[in-house]
Amino acid sequence: MKPIVIGNWKMHLTASEARAFLRDFMAHPAVFERAEVTLCPTGPVIPIVADTLRGTAVRWGGQNAHWETQGAFTGETSMAMLADLGCTLVLCGHSERRRFAHETDADISRKVEQTVAHGMTPVLCVGETYEQRRQQQQDIVVIEQVRKGVDLLAAFPSLSLYVAYEPVWAIGTGQTIESADAMAMARLIRSTLREELPTGADSVPILYGGSVTPLNVASFVDGDSITGVLVGGSSLDPVAFHQLIAQLV
Ligand code: 13P
Repeated sequence: MKPIVIGNWKMHLTASEARAFLRDFMAHPAVFERAEVTLCPTGPVIPIVADTLRGTAVRWGGQNAHWETQGAFTGETSMAMLADLGCTLVLCGHSERRRFAHETDADISRKVEQTVAHGMTPVLCVGETYEQRRQQQQDIVVIEQVRKGVDLLAAFPSLSLYVAYEPVWAIGTGQTIESADAMAMARLIRSTLREELPTGADSVPILYGGSVTPLNVASFVDGDSITGVLVGGSSLDPVAFHQLIAQLV
């Protein structure tokens, strides 16, 4: 299985900055054949990224979308809009959305369901806060987020799902978890998926995210419990992000 690398640009890179990024990033494309690489720009920038990447090995996805098909939801983007632009995946329940947009596990499970219903792959993001880890609640928190996140998936005959474990305290802080601890959490996520899903739990890729850099990325991806990474800051620099991917192939 190819290593999976997803770049979450968050609220960074304007259209013109994205064009400049892609010029440099795509200068040496051979590496993209040996990994599954997806860029997640903001909504307005997706068409620009899509136009450049169409026909290459690099994919693009959304950072978020609403669970309703359409309607009076000012400021929101629908899953159908992302699918229409050729997005292959959608991040669901990123901790920044749980925190800043007050998304609940119930909201997130509907987003996961609707991503699948629109033919894309949900990347269910889970992870504990610093305080929860300090109180040794991380296992309970993550199990609960996984269980609720996949709640509506049993109805689908074939499963399309990624899970990204991102400890909140490791996001954008330069602090990383011990790789052995990340792998232990990935195994816990796997056993939770086995309990919750009727079939296919063993084929769900589990990713790690949180201050991943070209220097530490290889320590998180063992190709067994963790098969890829979800990258924020290090995905904004085309050279660094290219180097990061090259470490895995
Ligand atoms: P950083 O890589 O900047 O820590 O962000 C991780 C993240 O939140 C990716 O979704």
